[in-house]
Amino acid sequence: MLQNDLLLRTLKGETTERTPVWMMRQAGRYLPEYIVLRKKYGFFERCQTPELACEITLQPVNIVGVDAAILFSDILVVPQAMGLEVELIESKGPNLPNPIKTVSDLIRVRVPDVNETLGYVFDAIKLIKQELNGRVPLIGFAGAPWTILCYMVQGKGSKTFDEAKAFCYMQPQLAHQLLQMITDTTIAYLKGQVAAGADTIQIFDSWGGLLSPDDFEDISLQYIRQIVNALKDEVPTIIFAKGAWHSLEAMAATGAAGLGIDWCIHPQMARKFAGNNVTLQGNFDPAKLLSPIPVIKKEVKNMLQAFGPGRHVANLGHGILPNVPVDHAKAFVDTVKEESTKLYAQQ
Ligand code: CP3
Repeated sequence: MLQNDLLLRTLKGETTERTPVWMMRQAGRYLPEYIVLRKKYGFFERCQTPELACEITLQPVNIVGVDAAILFSDILVVPQAMGLEVELIESKGPNLPNPIKTVSDLIRVRVPDVNETLGYVFDAIKLIKQELNGRVPLIGFAGAPWTILCYMVQGKGSKTFDEAKAFCYMQPQLAHQLLQMITDTTIAYLKGQVAAGADTIQIFDSWGGLLSPDDFEDISLQYIRQIVNALKDEVPTIIFAKGAWHSLEAMAATGAAGLGIDWCIHPQMARKFAGNNVTLQGNFDPAKLLSPIPVIKKEVKNMLQAFGPGRHVANLGHGILPNVPVDHAKAFVDTVKEESTKLYAQQ
């Protein structure tokens, strides 16, 4: 039994006493307690050691007081499990030395047995659930197939993912074959996360906004839909497709319980597009957490009012930045708790 199930109830559209709050990329990055572990262990070593993944997952729950834990891992463990080499270069980001470019490269990619290749994630989840002991729910996650393809083809981070797009437009059949392999792997992986104890799942489509609305449907959403469908009888799903606000209506129609939005769309406009049967999550500009605390408080209040009470999960519009002071993150979380309690009482 969960002591704090605000997130799950809000995702289901139930009435709660206040708005739940967590922050994307809350595990890691800005916490001094995380930096200590980063100096001692490699990135994938942290992901692959259940005790370390557990410790990092719990840090923001214990230090910042968020209403949900998110598993410490990375979306890039999926391409790794599918047979690609993935490294993380300090202060540069992901690097895949042998990216997918042609049909012959696809021979190196497989839909793996997730228990063999990603069993360490399931072990971490079991340990985290035990250590959380019902305090807050645990969010599992994976990248959307399109966002994973971006890294598999481009081989590194990019602002435009031009090579990944060229791959989709020049070799569409190959691209769809790869997207389907990623989708099949992701479904098995997320079902494994749920079986291990994840209470809800977020799908990160960080690069969904790089596609036109029609291409978003063809290259991204049709695969996300398969994932949402596969999980629909198990746990609520949240889709976060950054920048793809044009497809909120289509995303709501997948049956997802929650939709993440970034700060480039007004909450009321997002509500109009998404309809009333879905929970919205977001959408504080992460850079605004660098403002003085009184400004953060005022802006959080404005955000809560713009969403209105109910069917809202307070969050950032993208991941927290590494240089955010911990007391600013805490001010964000505390203000959501205090102000939304007042707002809900006025209803
Ligand atoms: O939310 C959480 O705190 C849980 C852990 C988590 C990480 N990555 C840990 C991480 C999650 C949910 C992710 C998702 C992820 N990873 C995404 C989607 C979300 C988004 O922000 O758009 C993407 C695109 C990646 C790929 C990735 N991993 C990049 C681009 C980088 C480098 C720079 C950075 O910090 O974003 C990573 C490395 C990474 N993943 C770090 C952490 C804490 C930083 C590396 C380190 O601290 O050693």
